[in-house]
Amino acid sequence: MKVHMFLRVIWMTVCAANFSPPVVKISLDDPAEKRWEPLLKLFDKEFLKKAAAEVIDTTIPKWVHHAIIPVVRALEKYVPQPYAGEIKGMASYFESDISDIVLLNFAYEVSAFCSSIVAQDTKGNIYHGRNLDYHFNVLRNLTVDILFMKNGEVAYRGTSFAGYVGLWTGQSANKFTVSGDERDKGQWWENVIAAFLLKSSPVSWLVRETLENAIDFQDAVMRLAKVPIIADLYYIVGGVQPGEGVVITRDRSGPADIWPLDLVKGAWYRVETNYDHWQPAPKQDDRRDVAIKALNATGQNNINMRSLYEILSVIPVCNSITIYTTVMTAGLPEEYRTIVRETCTKSIRKGAVSFNWNL
Ligand SMILES: *[C@@H]1O[C@H](CO)[C@@H](O)[C@H](O)[C@H]1NC(C)=O
Ligand SMILES: *[C@@H]1O[C@H](CO)[C@@H](O)[C@H](O)[C@H]1NC(C)=O
Repeated sequence: MKVHMFLRVIWMTVCAANFSPPVVKISLDDPAEKRWEPLLKLFDKEFLKKAAAEVIDTTIPKWVHHAIIPVVRALEKYVPQPYAGEIKGMASYFESDISDIVLLNFAYEVSAFCSSIVAQDTKGNIYHGRNLDYHFNVLRNLTVDILFMKNGEVAYRGTSFAGYVGLWTGQSANKFTVSGDERDKGQWWENVIAAFLLKSSPVSWLVRETLENAIDFQDAVMRLAKVPIIADLYYIVGGVQPGEGVVITRDRSGPADIWPLDLVKGAWYRVETNYDHWQPAPKQDDRRDVAIKALNATGQNNINMRSLYEILSVIPVCNSITIYTTVMTAGLPEEYRTIVRETCTKSIRKGAVSFNWNL
């Protein structure tokens, strides 16, 4: 599936409002198979099953359904803990077949299109924002902000979809924030082979592990750059000190490129969509230059959580398949904010504010 197919987007005015997703606490002190139970209070079983079926049927070739069965039978042998336990638990709560939940967790791994921005204001504060684009409407109703708890405190947090155990967006308070953007790559069975035979980590599991274990920005960047993963992608990381912002371009085996903020040379922001930054963005999908223009128009003096959200609201950075926008700043962890998108704006200049920041 090619990006431009999804991005040949006709903007439609929809009579709907943006909204905040539900927030759920998941306790890491509970056994893996029990910990996602709180989702049951938020999501209807039947709705989740239908949504999973839709994602799987459109994303995954039928033969893979069959090929995955032996893997699922021996889940613990192939899928590391705690994910195997969490997937098992999820399947039992939602009375779904485990193979469906496994497939669902790999389906999202395949095709997320995104825009991420990390920026530093003139005082040295770091802001990080991301749009997650995916061609399933149903995900809007599955989006959830998750607080991962340990000993009664938030160990880290992130934004995900009900049924999915990985994270594409997350924050370790007072340390760093991270987002993942897809990088064009091979077929998905190559990813499955990398996962099960080479024992590489799904990209969204490495995000979770890094949020859980990295002690600071530098440590997070090292882990996200080096640990083998099942697919190429971009990790965007923001920290708490001036200069702590970076785009990591990943090959499966390791880093292809590390692209930090460079304040001395005036580079107070970095924008990553789904193309290598050293190549021009393709004409049919130029979200990158629109975001850069909006950043330039905003200026380093005026960058903050709200203006970053506005930049991420401009068409086509925000588009008809944008599911959610998250803005975050690790130094002020309470400011973490996700907004599920029903509307975008035409430009920041006109101030056509069709969203409500004060949700
Ligand atoms: C999402 O939920 C709302 C409110 O419950 C409903 O009106 C809408 O149809 C749902 N959308 C999808 C794509 O399921
Ligand atoms: C944004 O500003 C930078 C630095 O002034 C400049 O090099 C670049 O051409 C500008 N890009 C756009 C799209 O306005």
